[in-house]
Amino acid sequence: MNASEPGRMTVPLIRARKKTGEKITALTAYDFALASIMDSAGVDLLLVGDSLGMVVLGYENTLPVTMEEMIHHTKPVARAARRALVVGDMPFMSYHLSPEQALANAGRFVKEGGAEAVKIEGASPRRLHLIETLVEADIPVLGHIGLTPQSVIRLGGFKVQGTTLPAARRLVSEAAAVEKAGAFAIVVECVPAEVAREITASVGIPTIGIGAGPACDGQIIVFHDLVGCHGGYLPKFVKMYADLHKVITGAVTHYRDDVRSGVFPDRDHAYHLKPEAARILKRGRGRAGGGVNTRANSKEDAK
Ligand code: KIV
Repeated sequence: MNASEPGRMTVPLIRARKKTGEKITALTAYDFALASIMDSAGVDLLLVGDSLGMVVLGYENTLPVTMEEMIHHTKPVARAARRALVVGDMPFMSYHLSPEQALANAGRFVKEGGAEAVKIEGASPRRLHLIETLVEADIPVLGHIGLTPQSVIRLGGFKVQGTTLPAARRLVSEAAAVEKAGAFAIVVECVPAEVAREITASVGIPTIGIGAGPACDGQIIVFHDLVGCHGGYLPKFVKMYADLHKVITGAVTHYRDDVRSGVFPDRDHAYHLKPEAARILKRGRGRAGGGVNTRANSKEDAK
């Protein structure tokens, strides 16, 4: 645990960062091993994002992601998080039908997944009502405005939002409405830095930016982008801190070559019988029943 931040991160502690000015660090997480590393490294918030669909499950966009897939991946992240706040991302069509459906699915993230909050995209009047409904049921909500990937069909692609003055002003009022509805923080995705700065200055809850410049109260990024875990397209705003695609490709081709040439496994990477047992086993080779001293199979004879 981070000495300067004893104990677990909580929704009120994330919210309080607006006042303290300490930046919120957030990453997406989808499994136990990597979430454990992020948690130990002191990341404040782990979002089990529906980006899961694209970077882990190989879908073209986030729309096919199901509640079952989200819950399946939220559980290991929640098990890994000893300090970070875990937020489950409500997938497309898991909150669109009715407040009852949204409540039931948000409840699953908490009860089954172990999440401590959920994220929902958008700021239409119906979405704002949903935020109120969930918060009223004691399920904290992280809002999400700007580029909302679940609207990719309507938006005509993953495009920067708020690029005209009216659109920028609309985003500022959406942020205010999301705050008023009760969200504890807002993800602001893919908007000009100046617009994110205006949004951040105008709300009393933290903004967590992704492709939204440096003025936000925190930053989030898709983990696989951060560590270069795919060879595909990276948006302009991504800073790659490692090139795992290169590292893993190197390791895998090296392994393949070693197996093909017989270099791996070598003597050091294998178990061995004691020399006496190995000799007897070899002598008995080819005889019916093997003629092998069965002790050669015991743990005693292997090391
Ligand atoms: O699904 C996701 O990973 C997200 C983040 C990019 C904010 O919504």
